[in-house]
Amino acid sequence: MTVVIAVAQQKGGAGKTTLAANLAVAFAATRRVALLDIDPQHSLARWHALRTAGKRAPFGFSAEAGWRLPAEIDKLRRGHDVLIIDSPPQIDTDARIAIRAATLVLIPVQPSAPDLWAAEGTLKLAADERRPARLVLNRAAAGKLRDGIEADIARLGHPRLASVLGNRAGIATAFAQGLGITETAPRSAAGLELRALLAEIEGLTR
Ligand SMILES: Nc1ncnc2c1ncn2[C@@H]1O[C@H](COP(=O)(O)OP(=O)(O)OP(=O)(O)O)[C@@H](O)[C@H]1O
Ligand SMILES: [Mg+2]
Repeated sequence: MTVVIAVAQQKGGAGKTTLAANLAVAFAATRRVALLDIDPQHSLARWHALRTAGKRAPFGFSAEAGWRLPAEIDKLRRGHDVLIIDSPPQIDTDARIAIRAATLVLIPVQPSAPDLWAAEGTLKLAADERRPARLVLNRAAAGKLRDGIEADIARLGHPRLASVLGNRAGIATAFAQGLGITETAPRSAAGLELRALLAEIEGLTR
């Protein structure tokens, strides 16, 4: 069975595309991975184009959205172990279809109240579709901000991954080159965080 991971969050700039790309690279060490970019901004498509221009092995890739989306998801499921879908910063019909298809919905949240508020909408949508969802704390440096958001998440009882990604320049630098942090700096703090995240997701989806 293909594991489908939908990365969704209405809040712009929370880290959806970054998370999708880095998870794809990390999963690809052991699994056949496909990517589906349903965000009209097409940042993930740009990242993937850089990747293939740099002679890295391509992922199964599509940026098909709209009425063809359900068939495209079925097509990418075939022949891949993991399908990661990057969605736009609003919940439209396409994002709903992605969430409906998901084995797991990942919702990146930066340590800010608007990120957490927006995440609640995505959590509700996943619950409506009866899909498991987890918040992923992203760009979270140790300190009061992070402590505060972690306390809020716990108080509200929102499901989350224990693994957290810090605010890591290496992640942004790797992305700009069409790469993932586990390729460019696997033993860096960011690389270790990403691998811990991957292990946790594998545990939830096997
Ligand atoms: N863990 C991180 N460390 C450092 N920078 C990060 C991290 N995660 C994301 N970023 C940076 O934050 C910005 C927004 O990230 P990204 O584009 O992945 O968000 P998004 O949710 O996909 O945005 P949009 O809603 O516009 O699609 C980018 O400049 C990215 O490089
Ligand atoms: Mg994006």
